[in-house]
Amino acid sequence: MVQLGRPFTPAMSLLQNMLVLFTLSRQLHTSQAARLPDRQLPPRPTKHQRTLAERLPEDTWDSHMHVIDPARFPLSPDAAYVPQRHDLFDAVSFESSVSMKNIVMVQPSIYATDNSALLDGLKGLGPDRSRGVVQFDLPINSSKLQAWHALGVRGVRLNVQSTGAAVNVTEFAALMRQYVAAIKPFGWVLQAYIPMYLLDPLAPTIRELGVDFVVDHFGQPAQPTNTTMSTIDPYAIQGFGSLISLLEGGNTWVKFSAPYRVNLTTDWLDAVAKEVLNVRSDRVVFATDWPHTRFEGLDIRPFIERCLDWAEEANCVEEVFSTNAKSLWRVEE
Ligand SMILES: *[C@@H]1O[C@H](CO)[C@@H](O)[C@H](O)[C@H]1NC(C)=O
Ligand SMILES: *[C@@H]1O[C@H](CO)[C@@H](O)[C@H](O)[C@H]1NC(C)=O
Ligand SMILES: *[C@@H]1O[C@H](CO)[C@@H](O)[C@H](O)[C@H]1NC(C)=O
Ligand SMILES: *[C@@H]1O[C@H](CO)[C@@H](O)[C@H](O)[C@H]1NC(C)=O
Repeated sequence: MVQLGRPFTPAMSLLQNMLVLFTLSRQLHTSQAARLPDRQLPPRPTKHQRTLAERLPEDTWDSHMHVIDPARFPLSPDAAYVPQRHDLFDAVSFESSVSMKNIVMVQPSIYATDNSALLDGLKGLGPDRSRGVVQFDLPINSSKLQAWHALGVRGVRLNVQSTGAAVNVTEFAALMRQYVAAIKPFGWVLQAYIPMYLLDPLAPTIRELGVDFVVDHFGQPAQPTNTTMSTIDPYAIQGFGSLISLLEGGNTWVKFSAPYRVNLTTDWLDAVAKEVLNVRSDRVVFATDWPHTRFEGLDIRPFIERCLDWAEEANCVEEVFSTNAKSLWRVEE
């Protein structure tokens, strides 16, 4: 233990030095407070001293994460990368470490349309605490969708971004309508991992889908290339205006997740997040994107804190971390 009053020495670790400084500054605050008659109580801890558990609502939902177990559930032969095992046990232990209670398992690209690992995870956790977003090819037998629905599946994912495939807008719009025809009877969500600029040509189709539509990872905005621009204006991002207008329309939702997959500087991402919350805080869900595939080992806490900062400022913590997800993923009260 660090002894107070002990002089700093080069041998002391940085952490120890920080602990001493922290303790000294706390003493200083306390003694100042004692001198000032109008400050009876010690200062409230600032938001960054509060733990995630203190800042987050109780019934939190992590709206996008993956369970991956290559030994039990072999990856697709086309898998672009081979991650380590991150099974349901690992998931639950991670989630509780960041005060997340309920999870939405999303089919990762490396499993293509084999949803076995995800369905096994849903069975393991049960519909009170989990939901799933699958991938499948068309046509599909609706009795299969019915069986998945019973396990907690509430959406289908169209993943363009991970594959890097060029998109023919006309064909993609038609594809979205075909998926909607399959999922609409079940009230599922259409989830798309597409670059934001595609929202410009796709917006008219999305608006008319007749199901909830959710974009992954802030909707994949890209840093404007215009280097003469001196101010930060999210509307300068291609597709952002369409995203906002879709949000206003009501059937479009945004995930705040995976900033490491978003090609924006910190200031710009800030501006995007704040404007989205400003327009429709009831259409934003938070997600950890665990296990952050291709970024494994990354510490997601600073990002959770950042989302909390945005949500606290916009007074919508309960919405972003809990109630919006329950609405989007059809979690009955
Ligand atoms: C769908 O699957 C069910 C149950 O497996 C089967 O009875 C039915 O014939 C299938 N329908 C079609 C159109 O393939
Ligand atoms: C997109 O697909 C449509 C329908 O298949 C086709 O008519 C059109 O030429 C394609 N556009 C481009 C730019 O490839
Ligand atoms: C990020 O955006 C910049 C500016 O548009 C671009 O030059 C760069 O290639 C992008 N990087 C990635 C990884 O997409
Ligand atoms: C770049 O940004 C500047 C300043 O906002 C603007 O005047 C100019 O028209 C933009 N150029 C392009 C190609 O968008």
